[in-house]
Amino acid sequence: MKKTLLITGGAGFIGSHVVRLFVTKYPDYKIVNLDALTYAGNLENLKDIQDAPNYIFEKADITDEATINSIFAKYNFDGVIHLAAESHVDRSIIDPNAFIRTNVMGTANLLNAARTIWKDNMEGKRFYHVSTDEVYGSLGEEGFFLETTPYDPQSPYSASKAASDHFVRAYGNTYHMPFVITNCSNNYGPNHFPEKLIPLFINNIRNNKPLPVYGDGKYTRDWLYVVDHARAIDMVFHGGRNGETYNIGGFNEWQNIELVKLMCREMDKRLGRQEGESEKLISYIKDRPGHDRRYAIDATKINKELGWYPSVTFEEGLRITIDWYMANEEWLNHVTSGDYKKYYENQYTHR
Ligand code: NAD
Ligand code: DAU
Repeated sequence: MKKTLLITGGAGFIGSHVVRLFVTKYPDYKIVNLDALTYAGNLENLKDIQDAPNYIFEKADITDEATINSIFAKYNFDGVIHLAAESHVDRSIIDPNAFIRTNVMGTANLLNAARTIWKDNMEGKRFYHVSTDEVYGSLGEEGFFLETTPYDPQSPYSASKAASDHFVRAYGNTYHMPFVITNCSNNYGPNHFPEKLIPLFINNIRNNKPLPVYGDGKYTRDWLYVVDHARAIDMVFHGGRNGETYNIGGFNEWQNIELVKLMCREMDKRLGRQEGESEKLISYIKDRPGHDRRYAIDATKINKELGWYPSVTFEEGLRITIDWYMANEEWLNHVTSGDYKKYYENQYTHR
């Protein structure tokens, strides 16, 4: 069936994998990738599909209401998969307003534009909002986040994502907007911007730079390979029930320090270093303010209802990821030039 879909944030880390999957798997769909190309957006992530006949790129900012309305009027979308966001917790601590603007106001602009073009007939339409497990707050040593876990966001980033989730549900309730929301755990894989733990540390190990571990390093995250998140988005978009939430995660918890040591061992092998060499770069530094202790997703609902499971183990996914970064030095050098240096200095040197 022919459809015209809007994917926002498609030049970013997860968005680029979602765009690639939809463009290649659904040649009958017209895929419009709307992205403002902030520091995190990079069209190099989509070089391999940029000339596909069913792919269109629109450079636009979701906070620009008039432009968003005109793009919705131009394409008359059948569905929206919304990933565009400010996504880095540390940046949200430095500048919360940027997160309120894009994640809250930007999402509201998309909802309003969708409501305008769909108001006469919502049948078959779908607003898919991509959210995060961070909206549920922080876990102690036991337990998992369920779809029914009460929201308890702790950082400006997670508060802005929680607010956007609430708006999506409110539009479903008030205007009968057909929606689905997914809340996913930490992703890793190719195209991940090196401000986040895994790509930052791969890059620093490669360059023999200190590995800045926050606090005691015993914070825990639940890691999922990005392509498996994109597969889940495809399954929920096509098979998820309207008005439902699905948690996505790989039952794959790692304490940061254990993960960092694993990366060091893998990188020692790649770089021909003696075992233990890269671990010497580990440097414990001042903690992130308000740092959430542990995230862990219970993905039983999406497992049972849609038959989604991760396709790769963590060890495989991490190996593929490290190989990708080692083979894509140019990509890394490109994204770490310019403003990145200023960010890095501010975040780590003056800590
Ligand atoms: P990212 O920072 O790599 O990419 C975000 C993309 O959005 C970039 O291409 C950027 O240019 C674009 N963008 C930012 N502000 C915009 C604006 N105002 N208008 C238009 N485009 C804009 O983010 P990511 O890690 O790929 O995350 C994508 C989505 O998935 C986000 O909504 C995030 O909250 C969610 N999420 C991320 C993770 C994770 O581990 N990275 C996990 C769960 C959920
Ligand atoms: O859980 C999903 C979320 O995962 C997404 O919604 C966010 O967009 C994404 O950025 C990610 O958030 P985290 O804060 O968990 O990811 P980050 O890579 O920034 O940090 C992972 C862990 O590593 C966290 O405990 C903080 C720690 N850390 C991070 C950095 C950048 C360090 O110890 N040192 C660092 O330099």
